[in-house]
Formats: sequence, C-alpha cells, structure tokens
Amino acid sequence: MTEKIHELIDTRWSPRAFSDQEIEEEKVVKLFEAASYAPSCFNEQPWRFIYATKEYAERYEQLLSCLVEFNQMWVKTAPMIILTLVSKKFAQNGKVNHHAAHDLGLAIGNMSAQATSMDLYMHQMAGFSVEKAREMFEIPDDFDVLTMIAVGYIGNPDVLPENIREMESNKRERKPLNKILFDGDWEDMK
Ligand SMILES: Cc1cc2nc3c(=O)[nH]c(=O)nc-3n(C[C@H](O)[C@H](O)[C@H](O)COP(=O)(O)O)c2cc1C
Repeated sequence: MTEKIHELIDTRWSPRAFSDQEIEEEKVVKLFEAASYAPSCFNEQPWRFIYATKEYAERYEQLLSCLVEFNQMWVKTAPMIILTLVSKKFAQNGKVNHHAAHDLGLAIGNMSAQATSMDLYMHQMAGFSVEKAREMFEIPDDFDVLTMIAVGYIGNPDVLPENIREMESNKRERKPLNKILFDGDWEDMK
C-alpha cells in the first residue's frame, strides 16, 4: 500500500471563489485557538491578528481596501479577512526575535489544518499595502505586518470574473523532492 500524505494536507488548496455562507462564531474561535497552539521560539507566541467577518462591515471594508486591486476582485466574496502580524522583539529581554515570521508560519499552518477539518478554506496573500494597513490600524513599529488571508466556505467559481475563474481549475504544481532535498549539489536545487 502506498501511504498518502494526510488528507488535511492533501485536500487543502487556495480557492478564490467563496460562498456567502457566514462562518459560525465557534469556528472562528477554533481557527485562532489552533493557531495559538503552534510551537514558537522561547514560547514567545509572536503572532498577532486583526480580523473581520462581514458582520463587522466597517473593519471588513478597511481590511479589503488594503488589498491590491486583483485580490480585492475575488476576496470580496469571502466572509472573513485576516491581517497577520508579529511582535518583533522578545517580551522578556527586548532582543530582536529573528524567528517571529517562522513562528507565524507555523501558527498559520495550524490554522489551515483546523480550517480544512471544518470544511473551511483559506487563501493567503502578499498582495496588499503594508503601509496602508499600518496607517489604517495605527500599527506600532514594534510589529511587522506579514500577510492577509481570506477565509470561507468554498463557492461557485461562476461568481468570479472570467480571467480569475479559469485560475480555479489550474493544476496544483509542486517541485519534486529532489529539487528541495540537498544531495551535495546546489545546482540540482536551483
Ligand atoms: C505568503 C503567500 C502570499 C500569497 N499571495 C497571494 C496573492 O497576493 N494573491 C493570490 O491570489 N494568491 C496568493 N497566494 C496563494 C499562492 O499563489 C498559492 O498558495 C500557491 O499558488 C499554491 O497553491 P495552493 O495553495 O492552492 O496549493 C499566496 C500564498 C502565500 C503563502
């Protein structure tokens, strides 16, 4: 028997069409709880989140407006948007935490697995204005702004503009393992 990777990992993907079904409040809480259970350097837990569901229309619109136009076109169908940040320094000694972004990634990985287990989908994004988000939410310099995430139940791609709709059926490409595992030759890994 060939072992497959776990279905929580295998079935996750990043859609752009979301249903207008709201996310139940307990599920929203579970997403952040799952994130908070990630390991972190010195257990600093540097991850921070600003989020809004469509119920909180003002904050939702503020978050949406930080995204580049392409992302806004499809994210507006998602019932929830998250902005992710990290606290840059260790609380205990004020030294720079060079692993904060790593730890946030682990937290988002947990959140993603939890989302999949609840039939929710996440689509992470770098396409937004960090400066606008910083200004909008008066984010102090002590925090780095990292990504934004659209979250929701899967929707009908017909709601999307044609050019984006086509992307929903793109094949998911992954590098073969010999491109990511070092075997003594850096040329193989480029
Ligand atoms: C940090 C990060 C930034 C991303 N930025 C964007 C983005 O701005 N817009 C977008 O449509 N997708 C964005 N993506 C989604 C990736 O394109 C997607 O994860 C990748 O193509 C792999 O597809 P999959 O998640 O469906 O497996 C981003 C993903 C990550 C993790």
